[in-house]
Parts: sequence; C-alpha cells; structure tokens
Amino acid sequence: MPPLSPLLELFKPSAIAGMMGTVARLQAQGKKLYDFSTGEPDFDTPAHVKQAAIDAINRGETKYSPSDGSIAVREAVQRKFARDNNLTFKLEQVIVATGAKPLLADIIRAMAGIGDEILLSAPCWPSHVGMIELAGATPVFVKTTQDDGFIMQPDQLEQNISPKTRAIILCAPSNPTGAVYSRQALLDVAEVLAKYPDMWIITDDLYEHIIYDNHQFHSILEVAPELADRTIVVNGVSKAYAMTGWRIGYAAGPQNLMAAVRKVMSQATGCPSSISQATAIAALDGPLDEVHEFVKTYQARRDRAVATLNQTPGINCLSPDGAFYLYPSVAGVIGKKTPEGEVIGSSLDFANYLLNHWDVAIVPGNAFELDPHIRISIATADDDLNEGIARIKRAVSQLE
Ligand SMILES: Cc1ncc(COP(=O)(O)O)c(C=O)c1O
Repeated sequence: MPPLSPLLELFKPSAIAGMMGTVARLQAQGKKLYDFSTGEPDFDTPAHVKQAAIDAINRGETKYSPSDGSIAVREAVQRKFARDNNLTFKLEQVIVATGAKPLLADIIRAMAGIGDEILLSAPCWPSHVGMIELAGATPVFVKTTQDDGFIMQPDQLEQNISPKTRAIILCAPSNPTGAVYSRQALLDVAEVLAKYPDMWIITDDLYEHIIYDNHQFHSILEVAPELADRTIVVNGVSKAYAMTGWRIGYAAGPQNLMAAVRKVMSQATGCPSSISQATAIAALDGPLDEVHEFVKTYQARRDRAVATLNQTPGINCLSPDGAFYLYPSVAGVIGKKTPEGEVIGSSLDFANYLLNHWDVAIVPGNAFELDPHIRISIATADDDLNEGIARIKRAVSQLE
C-alpha cells in the first residue's frame, strides 16, 4: 500500500463515531439496541423548517453560494445574535458553514499550529481535542471535577496558561457533562483571560437553548464585551432544532480572524448546502416553541434517568443543568466481576459489558478525558431510555 499521511499519527479517531458505527452495524444485523451513544435529538425537524427546504428547491436554489454562506443566511445569523445574545456583528464578521464541527476545525487551523497549545476544560468533547491535534497543536486540559459541578476554577485555568497558549475553547452547556456557567462563573473566567491578550477565545455555544430549571445561558461576550477583539462565538442549528442532518453551523468574531477562517474555508471546505442554508434561515427566524417542548421532554427524561442511576450502587450521577447528556461516575463498578467472570477494569470494559450482554450502547469516559465515567445521551425516545437505564441498573446488580 502507498504510504499515508504522517499527520494521521497526531490524533485518534472519534470514539463517539466509532461507537455509532458499531451500533449501526449491529442494528443492520437486526439487533434491537438501547442506544445512548449519539448526541442527536430523537425529534423530527420542525415542519416549517422542512417546508423551507422544499420551497428552496422549488425556487431553484440549488447552486453554489459564497463559501461563507449567502448574504440572506448570514443576515439571519446577525439577527439571531442580536435577539438572543445581545451581540452586534457586521456581515463581514459572520460565517456560515457545513456544520459547527468542520467550522471549528477550520477556526483552529486558522489560529494555531505546531508548537502551540490550546486549553480545554476537561471533561471535553473529543472532537475539540482531535481538531487541535490535527492542526499540529497540543491540547492542554484544565481539569474539573464532579464536586465542582465540572466548572473550571479560575486558579486552575491560570496555572495551565503558558507562553505557548494560543487559545482556549469554552463549551457550556457542556458535552459531555451538561455543566452551565453562571454569569459570575463566566466573569471569573473572563477576568483571568483578560490578563492574557495573546490568547484567542473560542466559545462553542451549540447547546445554548438546551438548558434546564431556572438556569440561564450566557455567552462570554455578553458578560465580558471587552474580549470582543479576540473571541469567536460558534453555534449551529443541529442540536436545538433537531437538524443534525442538515449540516449548518455558524460563527461570528473579529474581522481579522474571520478573514483567516474564510481563507482556510475557501480552499478546504467550500459552501454549505444551499437548501440547508434556506432551512437555517427558517429555523433562526422562526419561533422557539417546539425547541422549548423538546427541552421539557429532555428535562423529564433527565429527572427519571438520574434518579434511577443514583439508586444503582456503584453509580453516582450529577443532574446536568443543560445539554442532553448524563456523565455519571462509574468508579464503584470498577474491579467488579461480571457473571461470565470478566473483571471490569475500566469504563471501556463496562461499556463492552453493557453492549455485549445488555444491548445498551454508551460512550466510555476515557474518550472525554475524565474517567471512570460514562456518557449517556438522553436524546433518546422515552420507552428506550426507560428500558435502557433499567437495564444498566440490572446489569450492575449482577456484578460481584
Ligand atoms: C460541543 C459540540 N460542538 C459542535 C458539535 C457539532 O455540531 P454540528 O452538527 O453543527 O457539526 C457537537 C456535536 O456533537 C458538539 O457536541
């Protein structure tokens, strides 16, 4: 075989995509699985959004747009930031792309390379890590704990900043912990970042609308507008509007950075689907009523699933304030033996036990940089969630 790129040695494949692949293969073989591995709303895309796609096709909007999105979709993003986040951006400061994931990868490539470090609050989304590594840079983890509610402590953050630090990625509500920063907690982070003017700030706000109880979403720019000349806000329609397959993400930030990102995109990614751009306009300009209904459903699921998990000896689950994941500690099952005599030595062993013997798919915590934990997506139909969580409880009760 001809050689492959040496860059492939720099990063691991996505563990979440790996589990999704295993699940798809088993399902194709006709196996019924309780699948909590995917961060994807189980709801259908709202009808008015789907209609916008049909209308765009009928209008003949089936051609390339500028690589950073049409003026119409970028104007919809401008309106969204003004309305929801009290942030004003010029059109040149807005980019629309084929999902937040490739956009984040392009942003990181535009700001960092070999020898640079990028900070992340851990546990973190594994793709943030992979993107940093793919750019040749090094991820540096600001570790958080369940006791701190998975919120970064300012002194810990500062201890991890070095002359090589090029950027930090903030992500709240967090994938995988669901942690939400209060206004004060964000101000504390901003106070540290204000001392380091050579650092970019990337805020991944994908789960902005998925927030529970009386918690409120704040973007760091809203609480610390003085960071505007080096902060890029990233968001998308996938999670809030049940639009994961339409592939639209967007970002806004300082003009010089956006020009650099545009340069990367112009060669690497190209424009998002013209039809999906029309759906994003309908979603962003449309009502949030359906989104609020989705969130009510997630919250009820969260309450039921967390209660059952916390009745399971060996599992300890914090109730998340946002996003649609649970990230329980499974420290209490490590070292135990399955009825087949296999020792559960790690969260990966536990994940394999659940998949192979109980038909339950979760993602082990080693993928997220805090172990032993597991990530459970509650964006899963009620009956499947109830049965799958009950199976986890029964599976643990069989361990010795
Ligand atoms: C924190 C976070 N950011 C970005 C994404 C990717 O979103 P998109 O579907 O827009 O690529 C995900 C998807 O899992 C995510 O969890």
